Amino acid sequence: MKRGSFNSRLGFILAASGSAVGLGNIWKFPFEVSNGGGAAFLIMYLFFCFILCFPVIVSEIAIGRNTKKNAIGAFNKMGKRNWNFIGKMGVLCGILILSFYTVVAGWVLGYVFEMINGNFSISENFGKYVNNTTNVILYSTLFMFLTALIVSRGIEKGIEKAAKILMPSLIVIIISLIIYALTLPNSIDGIIFYLVPDFSQINLNVAGNALGQAFFSLSLGMGMLITYGSYINDDNNIINSATLITLTDVGIAFLAGLIVFPFVFSSGIETQGGPGLIFQVFPQIFQDLGGITGIIVGSTFFILLSFAAITSTVSLLEVPVSYLVDEYKIERKYSVWIVAIIILFIGIPSALSQGKSIFFSKFITYFGSEKPIDFMQFIIDVSNDTLLPFGGFLITIYVAFVWKKNNLTEEISKGNPKYKGSLMEKYINFSITYVCPLILGSIFLLTFLNKFFGI
Ligand code: TRP
Repeated sequence: MKRGSFNSRLGFILAASGSAVGLGNIWKFPFEVSNGGGAAFLIMYLFFCFILCFPVIVSEIAIGRNTKKNAIGAFNKMGKRNWNFIGKMGVLCGILILSFYTVVAGWVLGYVFEMINGNFSISENFGKYVNNTTNVILYSTLFMFLTALIVSRGIEKGIEKAAKILMPSLIVIIISLIIYALTLPNSIDGIIFYLVPDFSQINLNVAGNALGQAFFSLSLGMGMLITYGSYINDDNNIINSATLITLTDVGIAFLAGLIVFPFVFSSGIETQGGPGLIFQVFPQIFQDLGGITGIIVGSTFFILLSFAAITSTVSLLEVPVSYLVDEYKIERKYSVWIVAIIILFIGIPSALSQGKSIFFSKFITYFGSEKPIDFMQFIIDVSNDTLLPFGGFLITIYVAFVWKKNNLTEEISKGNPKYKGSLMEKYINFSITYVCPLILGSIFLLTFLNKFFGI
């Protein structure tokens, strides 16, 4: 069986940025910012992305391209079977993420239709909406179906082609919405809240969230970039690609804030942020815009979210699929549907955890805390804030001490002859040997103890 590959460098960058840019940027980022002291969070987030995550991105892509294998097979191919647990953890983590992500993406898709129908009162009925099992199942399944359809067409004709259409459209929509948002009254207050840092809000918890968010947003720490990296050629300049992916991701998260905060502040609606921000507050804002404007702006906004989400679900699905195709020689068209159906089932507890099932809605109470955590939040805590940074930690340890830095340098140099001896090489090597393991390891440990054991 011939292994697929990206047809162009731009195609790879768009697909990888498409993976990075998702609900994490537009749905999660703004409320993390508002909970974390506005720009104080933003600054920490930027620091994590460029200083800690960048070397991990480069490492993942290099492993993938070097081995031309999926996240688990890559370690075997390098003769380091003992380390393939990093890949196994990654595949598992990807499945967990996709299971709840599809549920949220289903809400988003459903909202597109609600907005088109001018059903703005949905904001007061969000609780009811997410517990309307028929709707949620219908839209999540539809979303998964579209994702699987793209992935089943393979790398070039499926993933790359979708990214080439969706990413430019996404950027056009974002820019139009920002221009519109800035014309609203009081929008400047939103910008001020967003951009003026309140450092008193920073604590370990916020730092842990910022790190988790950086990993989640960059799709890092679970082998997605090993997988996508396995579909690129040796002439690809990994450093440049990694830079463009990071800039696109951070840039779009930043721009999403320029839409969200002016909207919220101009509406004068009091909100404590949180996951409901977009689903509860936004329809009210669109309603205040009045009739047809509300319908257009509202549906455009949720179409934007759907576009962002689908290039991400595609990448999440590709990780286990690529594993089945490479290692078990199961044809892509079968692998895709098998995995998609399994993940839909795994998502059911998350879908029920928003009030429908008491068991899943009050799933667990962490040590030392009084508030029960719902199943979806539990999966998010386990996968995003714990497994991803831990995966990143392991990947840097692996590259620095097991695969060895000279091999990394060789791999990167293939598409970048000036890399050897450059400042960038020194920086990456120093980072993956000392900075990343130390900081990622300790933040991971502290967040883990703090989150689950209240220490
Ligand atoms: N980065 C995406 C977002 O911001 C989510 C995502 C896609 C992801 N693929 C991933 C997260 C792989 C972690 C790992 O919404």
